[in-house]
Amino acid sequence: MSEAEQLTFEILPNPRARSAEQRAALMEDPAFGQVFTDHMATVRWSAAKGWHDAQIRAREPFQLDPACAVLHYAQEVFEGLKAYRAPDGGITLFRPQENAGRFRESARRIAMPIMPEALFLQAIEELLRVDGAWVPTREDGSLYLRPFMFASEAFLGVRPASEYLFCVIASPVGAYFKGGMKPVTVWVSDDYSRAGPGGTGAAKCGGNYAASLVAQAEAIRHECDQVVFLDAAEHRWVEELGGMNVFFVFDDGSMLTPPLHGTILPGITRDSILTLARVAGRPVEERKYSIDEWRADAASGRLREAFACGTAAVISAIGEVRSSEGHFKINGGIMGETTQSLRAQLVAIQRGAAEAPADWVRRVPLG
Ligand code: PLP
Ligand code: COI
Repeated sequence: MSEAEQLTFEILPNPRARSAEQRAALMEDPAFGQVFTDHMATVRWSAAKGWHDAQIRAREPFQLDPACAVLHYAQEVFEGLKAYRAPDGGITLFRPQENAGRFRESARRIAMPIMPEALFLQAIEELLRVDGAWVPTREDGSLYLRPFMFASEAFLGVRPASEYLFCVIASPVGAYFKGGMKPVTVWVSDDYSRAGPGGTGAAKCGGNYAASLVAQAEAIRHECDQVVFLDAAEHRWVEELGGMNVFFVFDDGSMLTPPLHGTILPGITRDSILTLARVAGRPVEERKYSIDEWRADAASGRLREAFACGTAAVISAIGEVRSSEGHFKINGGIMGETTQSLRAQLVAIQRGAAEAPADWVRRVPLG
């Protein structure tokens, strides 16, 4: 197995790369995850060779054997992070080392090979050197990066595969929710849980999202933007949304977010908000919060605000909660001051317009 922390990437330019005009038209108002850049990064892993065959090449379909392991047993993990246009025209990444670390932990949980942090970052940066023109300059735009890895060996036995393909694709995006900054409405799932103790809830693996889709579809049927999952054991404690963590803000200025006990994705946005709140001297707790408390605190006015957070969604106010036991609004359905100011602070840091704690903003060497 290769011990190399970094590899030499072979650069194979896409002969069908879009022109500057075509690119500008595609980037005008892209819906989330529907427009893609011209290239992708790929690296292979095999038990015999370790990490090898690193390339930047045209983004195009893979050819997969029908027995390809991922198609049967879902051995797949992924990440999501964004590249931003810095005020001086350069390109930055927000805490990508954290994505590398979570990718490693996800891979470990799904019995996949561990990619060195340096190689994970190198693949992203090599892709940005080729496709950097796709990082939007618009204020609310960014280039969403999707690193992922799947079992590529053709076999039907149930065991960890001996071959994998790692890939990074990139997609220019604006706001995740169609309503932009408008507060979102969430649906509390009665019938489904996202993850159970000992399961894969803390891993960013495709299977978790497959399991969430029926609940998300139910949310959409109830005209909600996202589903809220409660814990699997008691069906009482708020865990997270389908693709975001959740925070609560109280009338005394304190904040609360559910704790990480293995069933929740350890969000990098969540961690950043905890850090910013603590630095600002705001009391913030990581503790269990039940759906009954949420309902009662919203009714009494003790709960002032609630928001969802994640790379794709940044920070989005939750304006209304719907469930089979009735609906309730938060802050009259409008975005509160704390949500607004945390969002502004985080966005300013991510865009290089405000001081960030050391190591949060990584400049991509483009030269
Ligand atoms: N929870 C889930 C289920 C997610 O899919 C995401 C998005 O990545 C998050 C939380 C937020 O994580 P992060 O802030 O690292 O994007
Ligand atoms: C992200 O925020 O990166 C996610 O993976 C969430 C998904 C709903 C797009």
